[in-house]
Amino acid sequence: MKVYLDNAATTRLDPRVLAKMKPYLTDKYANASAIYFPGQQAFLDLRQAKKTVAKILHGEPDNVIFTSGATESNNFIIKGVARANRDTARNKIIISAIEHPCVREAADELKHEGFKVEIVPVNQEGIVEPAALEKLLDKKTILVSVMAVNNEIGTVQDIAALAAIAHRHGAYFHTDAVQAVPYLNLDIQKMAIDFLSLSAHKFYGPKGVGLAYINRKIKIRPLLAGGGQEDGYRSGTYNLPGIVGLAAALELAYRERGVYLKKVRSLRDYLWKKIQKEVPEVRVNGSLTRRSPANLNVMFGYVEGEAILIDLSSKGVCVSTGSACSAADLKSSYVLRSIGLKDHFLNSNIRFSLGRFNTKAEIDYTVNHLRNTVKRLRSFSPIK
Ligand SMILES: Cc1ncc(COP(=O)(O)O)c(C=O)c1O
Repeated sequence: MKVYLDNAATTRLDPRVLAKMKPYLTDKYANASAIYFPGQQAFLDLRQAKKTVAKILHGEPDNVIFTSGATESNNFIIKGVARANRDTARNKIIISAIEHPCVREAADELKHEGFKVEIVPVNQEGIVEPAALEKLLDKKTILVSVMAVNNEIGTVQDIAALAAIAHRHGAYFHTDAVQAVPYLNLDIQKMAIDFLSLSAHKFYGPKGVGLAYINRKIKIRPLLAGGGQEDGYRSGTYNLPGIVGLAAALELAYRERGVYLKKVRSLRDYLWKKIQKEVPEVRVNGSLTRRSPANLNVMFGYVEGEAILIDLSSKGVCVSTGSACSAADLKSSYVLRSIGLKDHFLNSNIRFSLGRFNTKAEIDYTVNHLRNTVKRLRSFSPIK
């Protein structure tokens, strides 16, 4: 049996999304910046994709800037807002301790340009407490960036509350919402978010396309110089197949949200109950209540997560030890460290991330092998 439980790393392209993209990969190939008729038609389709996205996010079509994915969106927003709004009185940004590496590294690069970067901690559940953010904010703060849902432990932040605090201190607010679709109702107006990032391949859309939602009233410097597409905010030929695919995938994700959430939550809860029943000495990492229904991150005492992962892979089961980006990097997880996991537990964790296509039979198959794998690995573990 093949079981894919790494939907937080990427998802399978929905065939309905592929069908919407196909004409733009074949007949409708005109450049959306061209003046002749097919080009104008392509531009109208681009506008329609922006309208679709803006309606779902409760935002303005003009504020939707398509990118190559959330890595680019996060770099564009963090560097662009910091650089454009810097002056002698404002030179600081704040990010949370559990941001994705593309936020952390973008902030790190800003340090070399003389910006001050402060890290707001999370509590043991993986939550940014409003009081902790309030403590770091001052008149020098340009931007606060806190992710909506964490990619490793699935914890959900109170974005509206954090955005309100940032605004009270005159700072702008960005959220990396990559893992939030369709779990959170991403209402930009209600949440009062200035900037938001998404990647289509996390919600059954194509890879290599994402968006940066920006507030055009706030100054932002482009990341890419070139032909001036997206009103100069993001140069580069419009990736129309990807853009159409992103809009279609986002629309489907929210249209089918109710059924999807119910299914994923019940499978995740079933998985956790079954693991607790079949495997001793396990613990869930992060909050169980303020958590994406698709995520389960479990600590298996006295065994290496990598060893579990490789063993499960040989049985056809795909899981992860954390974020996909850290698969080639065996350093232990800073996310798990930040919620207080002790050194000897840091490498004993597995992330299961469920999705639309998983079944109960797959969960049974996975736990069956997991039980045997953990038992076998523990039998020759020197610790314990
Ligand atoms: C929370 C979060 N932010 C950003 C990214 C980067 O997205 P992409 O690789 O599509 O650019 C990821 C991908 O794993 C993510 O999980």
